Amino acid sequence: MEILEMQSICKEFPGARVLNNVNLSVRKNEIHALLGENGAGKSTLMKILTGIYTMNSGSIKYQGQQVNISGPKHAEELGIVMIHQEFNLIPQLSIAENIFLGNEKEFTTLGKINWRALTSASLQYLNQVGLKVHPKTQVADLSVGEKQLTEIAKALSKQAKLLIMDEPTAALTETEKEKLFSIMQSLVNQGVSIIYISHRMEELFQICHRVTVLRDGEYVATQDIPNTTIDKLVALMVGREVSERFPKSTTTPGDLLLQIENFSNHRLNNINLQMKAGEVVGIGGLMGAGRTELARAIFGLDRVSGNLKLHSKDGTSFSGTFSHPQDAIRHGLAMVSEDRKDQGLVLPFSVKENLALPT
Ligand SMILES: Nc1ncnc2c1ncn2[C@@H]1O[C@H](COP(=O)(O)OP(=O)(O)OP(=O)(O)O)[C@@H](O)[C@H]1O
Ligand SMILES: [Mg+2]
Repeated sequence: MEILEMQSICKEFPGARVLNNVNLSVRKNEIHALLGENGAGKSTLMKILTGIYTMNSGSIKYQGQQVNISGPKHAEELGIVMIHQEFNLIPQLSIAENIFLGNEKEFTTLGKINWRALTSASLQYLNQVGLKVHPKTQVADLSVGEKQLTEIAKALSKQAKLLIMDEPTAALTETEKEKLFSIMQSLVNQGVSIIYISHRMEELFQICHRVTVLRDGEYVATQDIPNTTIDKLVALMVGREVSERFPKSTTTPGDLLLQIENFSNHRLNNINLQMKAGEVVGIGGLMGAGRTELARAIFGLDRVSGNLKLHSKDGTSFSGTFSHPQDAIRHGLAMVSEDRKDQGLVLPFSVKENLALPT
């Protein structure tokens, strides 16, 4: 039984046809993946479904009825709720205030909001997503995973029947991801349908029932997850057979470049590591094993005891530890941080200014 049937959807922006006869149908109690390369049209299709954009032509059937979605509020009334990749939470407000943002009316008498009722009403949704944090906690104080759960709680408070998740696991830890998946599973058991957008193929096979593939704004295929493979989906996405997803290139590592000796600090205990020029060295370990801390210590972000030797091509060498990232940069090191939005970029600055910052 279908909850949603989008048929022959076309969307043009001035000078660009972005969707051309796209179909998407989602069944009740289904997790349906929407797959496609960057720019394939996934977000645009979802923005049409949630009333943010108007389509040029096509039809949408929802719960067996032809609908004409007039705007985001209308979509919400229908139970179509989207969780955007960039969270729409207000950090200065509490969890409860965020959940009912825009719907405070439910708790208002004579123009006055009953905060106690609002706060306790939020508990039901926090329980449903398994978030064990007080509803008065400021959203700014939550981890990324907890923010994600708050977003889902907010969606549930809107009585979502069709939930759209755009890359929800991009910033989650392994444990948070597993928790999210089990919540998705229980939502589906409660009768919710989910459209799931992700670039991580393995996840689709873990959690989704069917997948629809888009390419360059065109509908390509819909397949049952148990009857397809990653290779088949990649071929549908890019439009040709791809024999090797990550072709191996062979290189011959050069001379010794970096030596880490007995690195120790509050998080590290006697770490040794050697690296040759032209080499890619992976650092493995579970969440919390100290991988980030090692990178930070090498780069001069955290104090560390021990020694670092760097042998440059031009014969110059360094021995000691970097006391400041600037030190490390001067010696030719660069670091791409784990949380790019928070630690890697200055968001109010332009691309140009950000690029120029280290130098
Ligand atoms: N407002 C707009 N005006 C003009 N072109 C747009 C607009 N929004 C999106 N596009 C174009 O439409 C195409 C589809 O974009 P869309 O964001 O839907 O892709 P996507 O599949 O969500 O990609 P990603 O995986 O990167 O999120 C792209 O070529 C994009 O440049
Ligand atoms: Mg997108």
